[in-house]
Amino acid sequence: MGKVTVSTLKKMKAEGEKFVCITAYDATFARVVGEAGAEVILVGDSLGNVIQGHDSTIPVTMDHMVYHTDCVCRAAVDSLVIADLPFMAYTTPEQTMANATRLMQAGAQMVKMEGGVWLSESISMLVERGVPVCAHLGLTPQSVNVFGGYRVQGRTPKGAKSILADAVEIQDAGASLLVLECIPQDLAADISSKLDIPVIGIGAGPGTDAQVLVLHDLLGLSEHTARFVQNFMAGQDSIAGGVRAFVEAVKSGDYPRPEHSYQ
Ligand code: KIV
Ligand code: NA
Repeated sequence: MGKVTVSTLKKMKAEGEKFVCITAYDATFARVVGEAGAEVILVGDSLGNVIQGHDSTIPVTMDHMVYHTDCVCRAAVDSLVIADLPFMAYTTPEQTMANATRLMQAGAQMVKMEGGVWLSESISMLVERGVPVCAHLGLTPQSVNVFGGYRVQGRTPKGAKSILADAVEIQDAGASLLVLECIPQDLAADISSKLDIPVIGIGAGPGTDAQVLVLHDLLGLSEHTARFVQNFMAGQDSIAGGVRAFVEAVKSGDYPRPEHSYQ
C-alpha cells in the first residue's frame, strides 16, 4: 500500500473509504497487523491491561511506552504508527513536548492524548514543532476514576454538546486525527461529518471514518470485553486470518453493526 501518512487518511475520509487501526505492542504483531492491511497501528497504553495485566492504563509509564513503540516501529513498514502519551505524561506543554519527543524518536509518526479544550495549547505547540497529534474523547480510560467506571459518555444533551465542542476545539488547535470511544452512534456520526479531520471510532457506531480495536480483543483473547467487541477469530484458522477478517469487515461496512453500538 506504500507508507501511509496523514494525507492518505485525509484523502480516504474525503472519498468515503473506511480505514482501519489496530493496536500492537511488539514487532511480530506489528508485522501481522501491517500485512493484514491496517493503515494505522496504535501503540496504545491499553498495554497496561493486555500486556501488563493491570485493570487500568494508569500504571503505564513513559519508559513502557517508549520500549513498546520502539519494538513496533522496527516492524511497521507501511502503517502509520501512533503512540499514546500515558497517564500524567502531558500535564503541561513543556512536559508534553519532552515526552512526545521520546515517542517520535522511538519511531512513532504521531502521538495521542486523551482530552479536549484543555489540550489546545499543547496540541498547537506540538504541531508547530513537527509532531502530529491524535486526540481521544468520550470514554477516555485514563480518567476512569473520575468517571466512576468504564461508562458510555455523551448520553446527556450537555455531555454530547461538550464532546462536540471539544472535537471542534482540538481540530482548530491543529490535531490531525480524533479517536471517539464509547459514545452514542448518532453523536459520533455527527462529529465525524462536522470535522474535516478523520475520526476513528471504538464503540462509537458505524458513522466514523475509521475503526480501532485492541488486538487482543478482536482475537477473542480478552477476559472481559465490551459490547462493541467482536471475536474475529470465529471461523478463522490463523491469527493473520482473524486480523484480516477485522480489516475486511470494517472496509465492507460489516462491522460495527447495531449490536456493537450505543444509541
Ligand atoms: O490504548 C488503546 O488501545 C486506545 C484505543 C482503545 C483507542 O487508546
Ligand atoms: Na489508549
